Order: sequence, then C-alpha cells, then structure tokens
Amino acid sequence: MNNFTFSYPTKVYFGQGAAAQALQQELPKVGRTVMLAYGGGSVKKNGIYDQLKKLLLEAGKEVVDFSGIMPNPTYAKVQEGAKLAREHQVDFILAVGGGSVVDCCKVVSAQAMIEEDIWNMEYQSGKFPTAGISMGAVITASGTGAEMNSGAVITYEEKMWKGPIVGTCASFAVLDPDYTASVPPMQVLSGAFDTLSHAMETYLGTSDADNVSDDVALAIMRNTVVNMRRLLANINDMQARGNLMWDSAMAENGILKVGRLTDFQTHQIEHQLGAYTDCNHGQGLAVIHPAYYRHILKDAEAKFTRFAKEVFGKNTAQEGLDALTAFIKECGLPTKLSELASKVEITPEVLRKVADTCNLIQCNPRPLDREEVYQILCECM
Ligand code: NZQ
Ligand code: ZN
Repeated sequence: MNNFTFSYPTKVYFGQGAAAQALQQELPKVGRTVMLAYGGGSVKKNGIYDQLKKLLLEAGKEVVDFSGIMPNPTYAKVQEGAKLAREHQVDFILAVGGGSVVDCCKVVSAQAMIEEDIWNMEYQSGKFPTAGISMGAVITASGTGAEMNSGAVITYEEKMWKGPIVGTCASFAVLDPDYTASVPPMQVLSGAFDTLSHAMETYLGTSDADNVSDDVALAIMRNTVVNMRRLLANINDMQARGNLMWDSAMAENGILKVGRLTDFQTHQIEHQLGAYTDCNHGQGLAVIHPAYYRHILKDAEAKFTRFAKEVFGKNTAQEGLDALTAFIKECGLPTKLSELASKVEITPEVLRKVADTCNLIQCNPRPLDREEVYQILCECM
C-alpha cells in the first residue's frame, strides 16, 4: 500500500425524496443567490427543474439559471458560467444533471473565484484551485461518479483537447434513482459501462498483493454487470438503477484508488477521441476497451484471469476478455468507431491525431507508445 491521505468531502443523500431532504438541510447553510445549472432541457421536460426551483424559492433563495450545458462540456461554457456567477455574485451552485453538468460546474465554481485563466493556471503554472463557490450536485444520469470528486473533464475546442481540470468538489450529492427514470436506455447503459470501466481501469493499475482496493473493484464490476443485465431485462427496474447509481459513486469517489496506481489508459484515449468527435463517453469506452485489452492481456495475465473468474465466471484471461466483448454486444453498446455518433467522419487521419495527442499512462500493465495507440484505434474501425 502506497502512502495516502484520504477524506470524503461530499455528503450523500440517497434514495427516493432525497432532493427535498438534502435541500431542506443544506440550503440554510448557504447564501441567498443560487445558480441553478442544468443541461439541454431534460430537467424541464421531466419536472425535476420545477421541483428544485420550488424548493429553492421556498428556502428564500434568489435563483440564477445557467442552462444549456452540453454533453462533453466545453471550456467556453465554463467561462460563460464563471462570468454569470461573478455578475450575479452567486453564493452557491446547484448542478443538476449527469457528469457533464457536474463537471462544468466544478470548474465554474473555481474559475469564478480566481482572476487567472484556470487552464493556464493548472497546465502552465502547475497550481490548483484552493477555493470555489460551494456547490451541490443532483444527479439525473448516473455512471461517471462525478458527484463525489473534484476532477472535471472538459473539452477545450480551440486546443482540440479533452482532459482533466481540477475544480471544486460538491459538498453534497443527491442520488435519487427516480430522477434517472427518463434517461434514454442507451445513456443508462453507456453510463453504467463507464462505471464498469472505472473499476476495471483502477484494478488493472499497480497495487501490492491482497490490496482491498482490488477486491472492492471486482465487487463493483460484478455488481455493475449483474444490474446492467437486470436493466436489459427491464430498463425500468428502479432497484437496479439505484444499485448502479451507488456503484457509479463508489467507483469514482476515490476509495478504490488510494494507496495504488491506476491504469486509465482507455479513458485517456477516449477523452481525446471525444475532443475530435464529441462522441458519447461510455460508448467510446465500450468500443476501445476490448481492443486495448487484447494488447495488454499477456502483460497482466494473472489479473485478467482473476477478473474472468470473479466478474464473468470464466477460467482464463482470454475467456474473460471474450466475455467482456460479448457483454458489450449483449448491452447493444457500439463495438466499432463507425457506430459512434460523431461530429466528423472518423478516418485514419483523425485516429492518428487522437493517438498523437492523447495522454500516455506511464505505469502498468505496460506503457504504450503512440504507434500502438494508433494501432488499437485502427482495430476499432
Ligand atoms: O442535457 P440534457 O437535456 O439534460 O440531456 C442529457 C444529455 O444529453 C441526458 N440526461 C441527463 N439526465 C437525464 C437525461 N435525459 C433524460 N432524463 C434525464 N434524467 O443525458 C445526456 C448525457 O448526459 P451527460 O451528463 O453528458 O452524461 P454522463 O453522465 O455520461 O457524463 C459524461 C461526461 O462526464 C465526463 C465524460 O468525459 C463526459 O464529458 N466524465 C467525468 C468524470 C468525472 N468527473 O469523474 C469521470 C468520467 O470518466 C468521465 O470522463
Ligand atoms: Zn469514465
């Protein structure tokens, strides 16, 4: 076990009615002006916006809307939100949505409190925010686990870059499975696949033997697969949605990552693919994972064998990988890049740019070079 410091800054309110309970307890602690942040309009159609706005007004808050946060939120949108927050002297941000809304708000929160451009601050000066407008997250689409960490993933369009920016961690999160009822089935499954990916990527990093993190990661993978299968049988199985919601938070709240190195190479490739294509995150991962794992199977054979046994009930590393590949198909997730919704045609030239610009992880199972990343991407075509 490597040295670590660990704390949980986010209080979680889970279950039916959790939003009302959370807001009644948390709103008295925050100032008068609240930014209500959301995406492209699903919250208006399903009534969540009205419910939350009513609770905010009843608590005597003045509400400033910040709307239109897109999937794969852009740096320009972050700056728009930070400007709005400064102009209205926002005291508190309530982020209502999936990973995209929560991530955008994490960086809005930090950027609004600093003069310097936050990307320059983090990537050129190597400094990270120490303060931000306090925020809460109400999850309406689960999978990323963004609600319990301070890392955001932002697309900087001018730089053709999608990557992490450290922002503010939500002080509380609302996880009500009912709030996900209207999420389209493909998003439900791709979100859940993202959770599976987070646990696999953590597990395939480096840890010492008998590290509890491996055991917990495998349990989360197994539980995610079981509950995804329940949703394949009945997409409205709200108990399964709730199980997946907690799997999602558990996989990305940091508890799996303490005291070890993680892999996350698939994420690095997918994020940069997202910079060029604006593809859906979970679907991009579903396409890339099997190809990447074919490349590193022999470098982590014992781990893949354990994964095969404990997640899919198979005997060998190869059988585990085959089972994962078959599971992706069973879920109806994309298996080829051509199946991804993309803003550009995905050509070998685009893949070369992705391979040339994605982040390369320098640890186990085995570092890749850019040529191998390009090969992996070409195998996904
Ligand atoms: O914008 P609206 O209209 O709300 O529609 C959204 C969006 O189109 C829709 N949706 C959300 N809740 C809904 C709903 N539709 C109907 N009913 C509801 N209740 O779902 C669509 C996708 O939303 P989005 O937030 O983009 O999905 P997700 O939660 O998968 O987030 C993806 C983003 O998170 C980043 C990804 O890279 C991507 O940018 N990630 C963030 C991480 C983190 N901060 O820890 C970790 C992840 O690895 C990931 O990289
Ligand atoms: Zn992810």
